[in-house]
Parts: sequence; structure tokens; C-alpha cells
Amino acid sequence: MAELNPSIMVIFGASGDLTHIKIFPALYSLWEDDFFPDNFFIVGFARTKFDDDAFRKTIFDSLNVNCRKKPIDEDEFFNFSKHIFYLTSKYDDDSSYQKLGGFIESKAKEYNMPKNVVYYLSTPPSVYINVIDGINKAKLMSYEYKGDGFSKIVIEKPFGYDYESAKNLNGKILSVFKEEEVYRIDHYLGKETVQNILAFRFSNAIFEPIWSNKYIDHIQISALESLGTGGRAGYFDKAGIIRDMMQNHMMQLLSLVAVEPPPLFDADDLRNEKVKLLKSVRPLSLNDVKKYTVRGQYDRGVIGNKQVLSYKEEEGVPPDTLTETYVALKLFIDNYRWAGVPFYLRSGKRLKMHRTEIAIYFKKMPYSLFAKVGIENIKQNSIIITIQPNEGIAINFGAKTPGFKLNIEPVNMVFNYKSSFKLSPPDAYERLLYDIIIGDQTLFARYDDMLIAWQLITSIIKGWSKLEPPVFPNYEAGSWGPKEADDLINADGRFWNNN
Ligand SMILES: NC(=O)c1ccc[n+]([C@@H]2O[C@H](COP(=O)([O-])OP(=O)(O)OC[C@H]3O[C@@H](n4cnc5c(N)ncnc54)[C@H](OP(=O)(O)O)[C@@H]3O)[C@@H](O)[C@H]2O)c1
Repeated sequence: MAELNPSIMVIFGASGDLTHIKIFPALYSLWEDDFFPDNFFIVGFARTKFDDDAFRKTIFDSLNVNCRKKPIDEDEFFNFSKHIFYLTSKYDDDSSYQKLGGFIESKAKEYNMPKNVVYYLSTPPSVYINVIDGINKAKLMSYEYKGDGFSKIVIEKPFGYDYESAKNLNGKILSVFKEEEVYRIDHYLGKETVQNILAFRFSNAIFEPIWSNKYIDHIQISALESLGTGGRAGYFDKAGIIRDMMQNHMMQLLSLVAVEPPPLFDADDLRNEKVKLLKSVRPLSLNDVKKYTVRGQYDRGVIGNKQVLSYKEEEGVPPDTLTETYVALKLFIDNYRWAGVPFYLRSGKRLKMHRTEIAIYFKKMPYSLFAKVGIENIKQNSIIITIQPNEGIAINFGAKTPGFKLNIEPVNMVFNYKSSFKLSPPDAYERLLYDIIIGDQTLFARYDDMLIAWQLITSIIKGWSKLEPPVFPNYEAGSWGPKEADDLINADGRFWNNN
């Protein structure tokens, strides 16, 4: 990969967790892998008082915990830290943005570089509007520079709270930036295995012909976490798993596994196909919400030999909360490829294991050749794409066991990133930050796919508001989730992949 363009990355909310846990570890890894030119600068913008050195020290400490290149060599960090600056600022204060403008101007002059600026919103969403207004008022967008450089804006999830708020936020962003300058991060799309879904489907003649309702029985998408709210209860209790996971990550996985091949592998062609796919997801009526959605909330339980509290007992969670920590959905895609194939999605917290995967189950053989010799119920073939924690792909099929007697047992062929390529994939944020700076939007949500996903999710949330509130808690921490989620899939004669 090529060296990055000379740029300035401004991180709003730079005193916060995301900056320390994800953004800087990724930037440091890119720097250590020699992607940074000398004229690449990062400037933190937040209220907490730091000077450059104090801010650099917080970064050094957190890299030693969060960076895949740890332990961090002090001399190496000293060289890296020359790229880092900090402006103690206020989000609603014009003079803070003027100071930022002055910083950009002076670096561009000093290093004879274009004003290439990436504005990264790493604050709570309540601050986004102030920041966008501040940038606008101080005239810090590239068109104000008359072509001398680029300006881009990076937005983290949650992108809105429902369809209406997402649309309003989008309108606000697009009143200042152009769509091609907006990077909506869904960090799942930065994961190697997620990108590999497209490579697997569209570069292998053995898989694409069977990727349809002709051969596929159903698809399961699971994002299971054993952790609870991880100290983010304030945010999570307002969002619930439907907004935190389903609207973004799960819809992105659904669209990649089901999308039609784009004419070209570029940002717009792929995103056009994703939009078409999401438009084909059958909307849920109130009756469908009742039948095809399940909500859960965890009770006390045991995870890894440790007793854990119920959701309602966690710090920062209101004791009478009705927020769901688990959701299962059954969806249909009404197009030629997928008509009749159910997609079962589930995501939850405090479950038996931490695992994200897509499981593709194939139809049974049309005729059971071996029934006459007493072999029945041969397991369905399946392809399991594991996104985390052990990135890889397994193909499961039946094979004759050795010996004189005919017996068929399930076996698998496994591709694993680590053993095949002898290296661990880079962190998702490394790939995404790299793409933002070089200007490749392929792995970022576009306004229309984001809004269509919100439309579907908002209809579910509205449906729930019209139904009897669920009786929570309804699953034990450390289990596979509520019984109703098993019922949802078992009623169709199918089972979650709980292996
Ligand atoms: N942390 C994660 O793992 C994660 C994952 C996915 C998405 N996100 C999203 O990424 C963004 C940043 O996440 P984060 O975890 O870094 O957020 P955070 O720690 O809560 O906030 C980041 C910084 O924003 C500033 N801030 C401004 N107004 C604030 C307010 N009303 N309440 C709290 N802080 C305020 C604070 O800095 P000053 O007080 O110094 O100004 C704070 O240090 C959020 O939109 C979040 O939803 C985070």
C-alpha cells in the first residue's frame, strides 16, 4: 500500500475512550508500518485541559494497553509524538474553531502542503451539530480554500436514533459537506473477514453458482457477546441492541452476504447494489413484528465461572428499564435470488460466548440415497464465516467414516487467517483510517443504505411500542438467549448454530 497523503486529522472529543482505545492505536500502527509522510499531523480538540505533552502522555499510556504493536518503544513513540498536537477548546465557541483554522493554516504554510483535513467526530452525538456549525462558521471546508486540499468528515455510530433523526442529521452534514466527503464508520466493514465475504463469493466459481434460493435453505447471522455494557450503560440503555447492533453491523453483514455482484468493484457500484438489496428486505407489519421479532434482557448468571449481575442491576441502568439486550429477527429478501430463504439474525449481550458469524445452510439432498441402508438425517451442508474472534471460513459436509460399514459423519474443511497467511489481520480501524485518507468510500455506509436500514429498524421499534411490554429479564447471563428466540427458528424445523 502507498504512503498516505500529507494531511491533518482533527479529532473532536480527543480526550475520550474511542480516541484512546481505537483511533490512536490504529494511527500508531499505520505510522510504524511507514504509511505516514513527515507532513501528517493529528490534532486533538476537546474541553479537557492538556498541553501537547500531557496529551501525548495519555496516548503513550493507552497505546501500551490497546495497540497491537505493544509494548511501545519510548524512542519510537517520541518520533511518533512529534505528529501529535492538542487544542483545549469548546465545541460551541467560535474562537476555538478560529484557533483550529490558524493551526491548519500554519502547518500548511510551514510544510508547504495542501490543506487536506479530516474532521473526526469522536464525541457523543449530542455534540455533532455544534461541531459541524463550528467548522462551517469558521470556513474550514475545502471549497473555502478554493481547491487547495480536501476536507472530509468522519462520523461514528450511532448515526441518529431513528429514521427521522438520522435523516435530520444527514441533512445537517450534507448542508456543509458533500456526500463524497462523508465517511460513516461501521467498523465491522473494516474487518478482513467481512471484506472477504465479497472475495469469497465473487472470486470463486465453486461458490457463486450455489449462492441462491436454489441451493440455500436459510442463513443465520449472529453477533454474540459475553460482555455486558462495559461501562457504557448510559449510552446503551437509550439505544438497546436493536440500535446498537442491528441497524448498522447486522444490516451491513446481511447486505454483503446477499448483495448482487456490482458491475465494478468500486465504492459507488457496490453501494448501489447494497441499496437495492436493502430495499428488497420485506418491511415488517405489526403482525410480523409480533411473529418475527424477539426481545430479551439478561438476568443474573454465570460467565466463565464468574457470577454476573442482571442488566437491571448494572451500574447506571435504571432498575425498571425495558431496554432489550438481545434481539432475534426473521427477515425475508423479496428478490429473485432470495425469495423464500429466511434470514435469521440474532445479537445480544452476556451470552454464552463472544462470536460473530454468518452461517449459510444448504438444502438437503433431493433424494436420500442412503436411507435404504439405514442412514437418515444426514446433516445439512453449511459454510460458516467467522468474523470474530477466530477469523476464518469452515465448510461442513458429510464423509464416510473409515471401515467396512457405511456410515456418514459431519467433517469440515477450515480456512483460518492466521494459519494460511501467517499473520494477524490489521485492526479494522487501521484499514478504515487508511481508506478515509486516501479517499476510498467502499467500506463506508452511504446516506441511502443507512436510511433504508433505519426505516426497517424504526418500523420494528414502533411495532414494539404498540405491543405489550415484554416480561424482563427473560434469559440467564451465560446462556444462548431467550427461549422465544429458539422457538422463532425451531418452529421452522431449524436450529441456531450453537456449536
Ligand atoms: N468507545 C467505543 O468503543 C465506541 C464504539 C463505537 C462508537 N463509538 C462512538 O464514538 C463516539 C466517541 O465515543 P467515546 O466512547 O470516545 O465517547 P466519550 O468518551 O463519551 O466522549 C468523548 C469525548 O467527548 C467529549 N464530550 C463532549 N460533550 C460530552 C458530553 N455531553 N458527555 C460526555 N463527553 C462529552 C468529552 O471530552 P471533553 O470533555 O474533553 O470535551 C469526551 O472525552 C461516540 O459517538 C460513540 O457513540 C464509541
